[in-house]
Amino acid sequence: MQKRKTVADILNMKKAGEKITMLTAYDAAMASMLAAADVDVLLVGDSLGMVVLGYDSTVPVTMDEMIHHAAAVRRGAPTAFVVGDMPFGSYNSGSRDAILNGGRFLKEAGCDAVKLEGGLEVCETVTALVRAGISVIGHIGLTPQTATQLGGYKVQGRDMESARMMIEEARGLEKAGVFALVLECIPDELGEIISEEIQIPTIGIGAGVHCDGQVLVTHDLLGMFDTFVPSFVKSYSKLAPSIKKAVDEYTSEVRSGTFPDKAHSFSGESNLRKLLGLG
Ligand code: KIV
Repeated sequence: MQKRKTVADILNMKKAGEKITMLTAYDAAMASMLAAADVDVLLVGDSLGMVVLGYDSTVPVTMDEMIHHAAAVRRGAPTAFVVGDMPFGSYNSGSRDAILNGGRFLKEAGCDAVKLEGGLEVCETVTALVRAGISVIGHIGLTPQTATQLGGYKVQGRDMESARMMIEEARGLEKAGVFALVLECIPDELGEIISEEIQIPTIGIGAGVHCDGQVLVTHDLLGMFDTFVPSFVKSYSKLAPSIKKAVDEYTSEVRSGTFPDKAHSFSGESNLRKLLGLG
């Protein structure tokens, strides 16, 4: 059995120049497959809301929903490094709520760390979480929980001023105590600069190849979620059509009476009808 990674292991990967792989997981079965494929970090993202729960944004996701799914991921992957994504409203009101909710991810779901979105405005909260013993990953650039304030789901940090601001946010979050930083949907050169400017690993999603690691939503990677596919997503498989084909075959066989056949049925007493006096 593999040894569970620690925060120190993840920090050392940047020092050693080893790329970090992170993928989202929301249930035990997928978590187990991702762990078997040796993914470094499993993120129970609040993308859960859109990918699995059918909401049209991540905003409605609740702490109870996150805990329910994070606990399943932990059960499916007992030795993985699992990160719980703090949903909108679970940390925005201040350090006390953040510690109570962040603590739930560790105590009730067995997570190793939490992730939260935001720049300089969340630095105080990050420091309070770290002091309370809760390891934190930051998330800047396109932050889906507040996408409407950013003008929608679009590339951030394209002009000099917003790029400078983002570098300041990255430095501020590092100082506040995050041990890694997700950079979402920013120009690749800015991803490279931020990765050079801070000592902690950057994990990019639409932030170019120079980040210290990469994260994708697993359903996007597998081609299972086509409601909204950002242009930075690479689908390594197209499972949605394969699933449809399999289900079409099943429904047609059930309707025609060819499933289940003998090979998928059980046999009992050979003369059961007679024994029961039924003919
Ligand atoms: O919720 C999520 O899945 C995320 C990743 C896309 C970084 O925040």
